[in-house]
Amino acid sequence: MSAEVKILLVSENEQFLNHLKGLLNNYDNLENITYRELKTELDRLAPDLIFLVQPEDDSSIDSIEYIHSINPFTPIVFIAFTQDFDLLRNVTRAGVIDFFVLPDENAMLFGRMDSIVQMAFQKKQQLTETASANQTFKRGRGRIYSFYSGKGGAGKSLISGAFAQTLKFESTAQVILIDLNLQFGGIETFLSIESNRSIADLLPVVNELNESHIRNVSEKEKYSKLEVLLSPRDAEVAEQLPGEFVSKLLRTCRRSYDFVLVDLPVVINEHTYSAIEESDKIFYILNLDTPSISMLKQVEGLFKRLGIEYENRLEVLLNDVGKENEINPKDIKDIIHFPIAAKLPRDIKGVQSHINKSEPFRKEQNEKKLIPFAKSIKKWVVQILE
Ligand SMILES: Nc1ncnc2c1ncn2[C@@H]1O[C@H](COP(=O)(O)OP(=O)(O)O)[C@@H](O)[C@H]1O
Ligand SMILES: [Mg+2]
Repeated sequence: MSAEVKILLVSENEQFLNHLKGLLNNYDNLENITYRELKTELDRLAPDLIFLVQPEDDSSIDSIEYIHSINPFTPIVFIAFTQDFDLLRNVTRAGVIDFFVLPDENAMLFGRMDSIVQMAFQKKQQLTETASANQTFKRGRGRIYSFYSGKGGAGKSLISGAFAQTLKFESTAQVILIDLNLQFGGIETFLSIESNRSIADLLPVVNELNESHIRNVSEKEKYSKLEVLLSPRDAEVAEQLPGEFVSKLLRTCRRSYDFVLVDLPVVINEHTYSAIEESDKIFYILNLDTPSISMLKQVEGLFKRLGIEYENRLEVLLNDVGKENEINPKDIKDIIHFPIAAKLPRDIKGVQSHINKSEPFRKEQNEKKLIPFAKSIKKWVVQILE
């Protein structure tokens, strides 16, 4: 039971954090972040129970309100270090389920821990049941997968487009694909969509963004009915998008779609950064040669410097796998430490013939004749759906 409850500790202070971790040492499913990380990490982590350790400044109430705006039902326990009557009254008003003043109430907190976790577990079950009574996929908590590589021409757009279309044909999931190559686009050619609409049309409504705005601006791929948010294909328009645009967009999409797929450009700017921060998975597309591998190492270094937590999220997609590869796919496991999500074959003939005719890889469900590339994508998608 307790393993299913994801507990998040929010603390600025290392010493208090360790103290709390000591009290929680029966529970494995723990993560901790700082207050600063709350804004970028909370939506993705989606905890079932939060311990908020009193910060040094007076931002407690703001943080509680912020958590409720993202996850209205997540129980919050407040940990204080002073008997500040006003503060404790205010956090209770803001909606915490309980508070403890440490170290005086150490024993009390320790004694109640199991029932707090049990309560969070029941709450989580209730929410899941309500969600699944309505549809097969759990709405309100879609998965965000982004497709990235430090190298141009690696296959990000080709693969994200094919993946999205296939996901749509192989399931009943609600899927949206977003082209964040704001300057040049690309998805529209692979999926053969002609339109002047783009995500930039959402700019005027970004502060009250909702599902119907997104459905109004998205285009549908004609065979799979996949929804696509196209790129404005204009650097100047891209410049006008505010810093929080991408995270607002992705969070809104996450609430209305089961899968939100993001095709990223090579450049890491504030928009790419936000997309990566919000993603549940980052599929890194890698070719089997030395320059591609050293590029991956460089990207890893950059992610580290930017404070992006990628270790449990980044999976490698081997693309363009064929006889001529400089490195054998079997040897790659000794060179990189990331899990390999899938291997996609080099399929020049198949891929090129579709690109030349400007035709997507899939036209219907249960197609008999698929090119090798599309077959591999299908195999991988079916695996993910299982
Ligand atoms: N597995 C593959 N087999 C054949 N051609 C491929 C494969 N992967 C990529 N390509 C080719 O590489 C080109 C560039 O891919 P693209 O998805 O646009 O790269 P990126 O988005 O990473 O810049 C594609 O147009 C396609 O011709
Ligand atoms: Mg591209």
